[in-house]
Amino acid sequence: MWTSKSLSEHVSEKLRDYLFIVVSNREPYIHTFKGNEITYYVPPSGLTVALDPVMRACGGTWIAYGSGSADRKVVYKGHNVAVPPDEPKYTLKRLWLTPEQEEGYYSGFSNEALWPLCHIVYTRPMFDESDWKIYKKVNTLFAQSVLEEVNNKKAFIFIQDYHLALLPKIIKDQNGDNSNIITAQFWHIPWPNPEVFRICPWQLEILEGLLANDLLGFHIRYHCNNFMETVARNMEARVDLERHEITYKGKKTAVQSFPISVDFDELSQKAQKSEVQDEINNLKTRFGLHEEEIIGVGIDRYDYTKGIPDRLRAIDCFLKNNPQYIGKFVFIQAGVASRENIEAYKVINREIDKLVEDINWKYAMGPHKPIICLRENLSQLSLMALRRMASFCIVSSLHDGMNLVAKEYVASRFDNTGVLILSRFTGAARELPDALLINPYAPDEFGETIKRAIKMSPEEQQKRMKKMREVVQENNIFKWAADVITELVKFEFGV
Ligand code: F6P
Repeated sequence: MWTSKSLSEHVSEKLRDYLFIVVSNREPYIHTFKGNEITYYVPPSGLTVALDPVMRACGGTWIAYGSGSADRKVVYKGHNVAVPPDEPKYTLKRLWLTPEQEEGYYSGFSNEALWPLCHIVYTRPMFDESDWKIYKKVNTLFAQSVLEEVNNKKAFIFIQDYHLALLPKIIKDQNGDNSNIITAQFWHIPWPNPEVFRICPWQLEILEGLLANDLLGFHIRYHCNNFMETVARNMEARVDLERHEITYKGKKTAVQSFPISVDFDELSQKAQKSEVQDEINNLKTRFGLHEEEIIGVGIDRYDYTKGIPDRLRAIDCFLKNNPQYIGKFVFIQAGVASRENIEAYKVINREIDKLVEDINWKYAMGPHKPIICLRENLSQLSLMALRRMASFCIVSSLHDGMNLVAKEYVASRFDNTGVLILSRFTGAARELPDALLINPYAPDEFGETIKRAIKMSPEEQQKRMKKMREVVQENNIFKWAADVITELVKFEFGV
């Protein structure tokens, strides 16, 4: 089994004299002001939560956009800060963007065009020429920052996600003969079928950008196949479905699946700490919960891909059809607001608020209300307490590359109790068939599944949770990173 230590040894053996540079939009630690004090928090991002333990094990440099209000105050050499702030293990190199650049590149092209384009959730992508221009410009700024860091040395560059689709090509174009640079990119969100992708006016530039990588990774094989089909339909490229390889203008790119994961052992151990029980007691007091209450939880960024209204509608169906649970059932929906300046996010937040209000009005019993909706940046300890106090967890994404909340819930259930209700449309569903799999678009069936979760015998819970824990423990985040690095190294020797 891969551990932080074995990954660290693997990296020093395989990467040898190569620099290891990770690049992403989102940074793993964000510094902000609390009054006059500077503090920091870990953003609610699957990508950063997954990669931070890898960087802690491997060391190296992580280049990302510095988005916190106090980010500039803590850096040295104009952009570097050692992280994790309490126990530094690697360098975070921050890249600065103007508000206009953030608006066009992040809110605009990344999240109003590519995000809805890749997630099939019936939210129309918006393609704005000026956003696209800024997206290109910002990818160039990332390339400058990377090449400055490489400084003609040998480097493995591990690029993350859809914000940086043009980056590999810009890096390779600007670097000269490229024998010193190997790039891999991991696409953390789904890749749609060619029919869907072809509406993007700049699809060729995006595909060319990605094909400059030596290795391109997706969570599941289905997304790799969609990508290869998209290339086959649109470009004069040789697509080898058997070898999972694309050759374009003489350059080969391997396209492979690597299901991302969590640091299972750390979560499982942290779940057993006595401070978690203290926090559970605090939260129960704060929410006025009593011992016999059946507690469910959902933890998400408030995003329209997560199926939050759909899970609320399922809870409505469940309570309507099973009134004996009114007053005895509470669902805690926790999370933080995300991408709030985008209209589609404003709409989904209004819809969630309205549903919570209606359901709480319909099924209130005295002061007891069935839904508690939290919109705050909860500490890691509170999130752990929520996972521990809930006898079931709902992940109801309408479409999701992987979904790490599902794996975090499993990793936290060290006593093999608890039930995971999981959307079939997540990458995680492929690895966790022992969850109760649901179609979030079918509220009645979904409501029935909530009842099934509540009524599941302790023996069945144990059997299912044990199997899921074995899967997540074996396929942990260190295995994911080791698999990517093992593949990357092959490019040096052309194996
Ligand atoms: O984990 C998937 C992901 O899309 C990441 O790409 C992203 O960092 C994360 O969700 C959170 O979104 P944001 O960085 O926009 O807050």
